[in-house]
Amino acid sequence: MSHEPKVPDPKPVRFDPSGPLAGALVPPPDKSISHRAAIIGAMAEGQTVVENFLDSDDTRSTLAAVAGLGAMVTPEPLDTVADRIVIDGVGPTGPKSLGRIDVGNAGTLLRLLPGWLAGWEGGLWRMDGDDSIRSRPVDRIAEPLSMMGARIEVTDGRFPPIRIDGERLHGIEYEMPVASAQVKSCLLLAGLRADGPTTVIEPHPTRDHTERMLEAAGAGIEREGPRVTVLPGNGLALESVSVPADISSAAFFIVAALIIPDSRIVLEGVGINPTRTGVIEILSRMGARIEVEAAGSSGGEPIGRIEARSSDLAPVEVGGAEIPLAIDELPLIALAAAFAHGRTVIRDADELRKKESDRIATVVEALVSVGASAEATDDGMVVEGAGSIRGGEIDSHGDHRIAMLGAIAGLASMEGVAVGDFEAASVSYPRFEDDLESLLAVGR
Ligand code: S3P
Repeated sequence: MSHEPKVPDPKPVRFDPSGPLAGALVPPPDKSISHRAAIIGAMAEGQTVVENFLDSDDTRSTLAAVAGLGAMVTPEPLDTVADRIVIDGVGPTGPKSLGRIDVGNAGTLLRLLPGWLAGWEGGLWRMDGDDSIRSRPVDRIAEPLSMMGARIEVTDGRFPPIRIDGERLHGIEYEMPVASAQVKSCLLLAGLRADGPTTVIEPHPTRDHTERMLEAAGAGIEREGPRVTVLPGNGLALESVSVPADISSAAFFIVAALIIPDSRIVLEGVGINPTRTGVIEILSRMGARIEVEAAGSSGGEPIGRIEARSSDLAPVEVGGAEIPLAIDELPLIALAAAFAHGRTVIRDADELRKKESDRIATVVEALVSVGASAEATDDGMVVEGAGSIRGGEIDSHGDHRIAMLGAIAGLASMEGVAVGDFEAASVSYPRFEDDLESLLAVGR
């Protein structure tokens, strides 16, 4: 459990140079949307059926949290999460007080849930999680929530554990200093309990899954350029949501197909919400052979089929408004850049330092340990691509995305990669190795 020293993964997992990836796959359900379905389903009145709910460590933490707050989640027990779940929301009764909510490693749960809780007078909650969660800043939500009148205490002015005493909230207009979908979502959820409209102004567009799902649940949401406004209201009813496949998980196979010769893969049912497809735009600019075909929508989100083929990659410059649209895939862009010829620069990405690990440090360390040339900068990194990597050892530092990046690096390397603490992958993608193997098997 949390705060006990984590037993290190005794044996690194090896990923040796492989043949091509081929065939078709539906990647796992979207993590961001699964978290939101569980939270908004728990807030709503009546039943919400969630089809294709992600089974992962992070989303199990969310189901356990909402169950503790009084929502009924079936099927039980939660340690056999099915891909179709039913949530009986607490509705106007509000969330039950809970002495300790364990968010595990889930940053999205940590930042979104206080938005629901803060406005319920008389309630008292404490939130905490694992060691990595204790280094994830929460002042970014505590400050605007306090401006709304919330009583929220954080540790050392910045970090979990968090204590929330429910209080009456006021609507505010808030200009976010960082482009963060988690902060925006937290304030929109809190705004439902405020005494007037709450407006969030984004410096750059960020993923808009919360707005879409709240609209589907009947909330009053108004959008105008960078401004999103939520009107007060308790009567959410979500009924059903079908979660699309996760483009952030798909991205591992896309990049693998690009950098491993003779690969050609098809990924189906993938969420292609334009606030998430920055990775496709950037890779395409690098010369990647990627085709995206829209295929309707699922749960209020556009979905599509993505085809990726081995490509000669060119270096690229990434920065500005593009960063939030590809924030979780920037490590993979850096890996792809090691396979290009020339200098790739990623800037304006200091938010990477505040993810499950300091992803500027851990990505640069990973690339250098496998023989690539990479350097950290204040707000990003520079990668000097040489067209190939040697191989070596990559430590995930407990970060799921670094673990999976290590696996892909190994397959595409000359000598293979041993990934330390590969287990971390289960935070978002427990079946990663099986799915990877299925694409390799078709390629053999
Ligand atoms: C997420 C938003 C992003 C992203 C995270 C999931 C979300 O974080 O990095 O993995 O579900 O809203 P920020 O909003 O803090 O940038």
